Amino acid sequence: MASVGGKHVLFNAIQVLVDHGDEVILPVPYWVSFKDIVRYAGGKCVLLQSDEENGFRVTTRMMERLMTPRTKLIILNSPANPSGAVMSPEDMTEVVRLAAERGIWVISDECYVYLNYSGHEFSVGSLQEYRDRLVVVGSLSKTYAMTGWRMGYALAPVAVISAMQKLQSQSTSNPTSIVQKAAIAALKGPQDSVAEMRKDYIRLRDHVLLGLGRIPGLKCARPEGAFYVYPNISEVLDRGGIESPADFARRLLHEAHVATVPGEGFGTREHIRISYATSEKELDRGLDRMRGFISSL
Ligand SMILES: Cc1ncc(COP(=O)(O)O)c(C=O)c1O
Repeated sequence: MASVGGKHVLFNAIQVLVDHGDEVILPVPYWVSFKDIVRYAGGKCVLLQSDEENGFRVTTRMMERLMTPRTKLIILNSPANPSGAVMSPEDMTEVVRLAAERGIWVISDECYVYLNYSGHEFSVGSLQEYRDRLVVVGSLSKTYAMTGWRMGYALAPVAVISAMQKLQSQSTSNPTSIVQKAAIAALKGPQDSVAEMRKDYIRLRDHVLLGLGRIPGLKCARPEGAFYVYPNISEVLDRGGIESPADFARRLLHEAHVATVPGEGFGTREHIRISYATSEKELDRGLDRMRGFISSL
C-alpha cells in the first residue's frame, strides 16, 4: 500500500492494529511520532530502555522481558532515529519469531534500511515464514532524498492492508498520482545514487563524531545508520543555568544560531539530536559555534 509518507503509513497501521488498553513495546530513544500515534489509537506504550554504552542497541532478551499477554504490537526501527542504532539481523529475526509465537504484531519501520553502515543491511520482509504478523514500512524520503514528495509504503497481510485502505480512503484517498509515477521511477531506476549517498553519510558521520569528540563535556555513541548523532550533554547541564536539553537547544539556537532537537521528544533527558545530512563545511560551522557556546557557559 502507498501512503503520503512513511509517517502516514505508520499512522494507518497503528490505528488499525491497536485498540484501547493494548500494550505497544517501543524502544527508547524513539522517533517522536510513534508515542503520540499509539496514544491516539488508545494504546499504552511500554518503553524499552536501551543502553547508551552499548550504542542504544536493542536485543531480543531486552524485548522478551517486556512481552505480556496484553502486548499487541512491537515497534522496531533499525537503523533508528534519533540514535542511529542498528539491531543485528539475528536479534530482529528472533524478536519477530517470539512475537509470532505469542500472536504479537511487529511493525518494522525501515525508512533508513538502505542507510545502514554496519555491513549487515537487513529487512524483516525477508522473513517470509512470519509474514502473517508483520508490517514492513518504507519511505522514499531518506533513500531518495524525496522528503517533500511524501511517499511511503507498507507491506502487510491483506486484512491489515485493506483496513488501512479503508481508513486512508476517507482521509486523503491516495498520494498524488504524479508522485506515484515519480516513486516508480525512483524505485525502478538506477540505484547508484543510494550507494553514493551511503558513502557520503559514512564520511559525514565520522566527521561529526570527530568534531564532537573535540568539544569538552560531550560524549557520543557511534551510530551505525540513519543520519543523526545523539550526543549526551549531561556534563553540560547545570552549567550557566541550563536545566534541560530543551533549555540547551533553545539557547544554542538563540545565542549561537545552531538548530538541534532536544532529547525530551525522543524519551531521554540527557541528549540532543544533530542531523549530519549536510556538508562538512556546514557541520564545521555548527560544531565551532557549539564549542564556543559550551565554553561560554
Ligand atoms: C524513524 C522514522 N520513521 C518515519 C519517518 C517519516 O518519514 P516520511 O513521512 O517523511 O516518509 C521518519 C522521518 O523522519 C523517521 O525518522
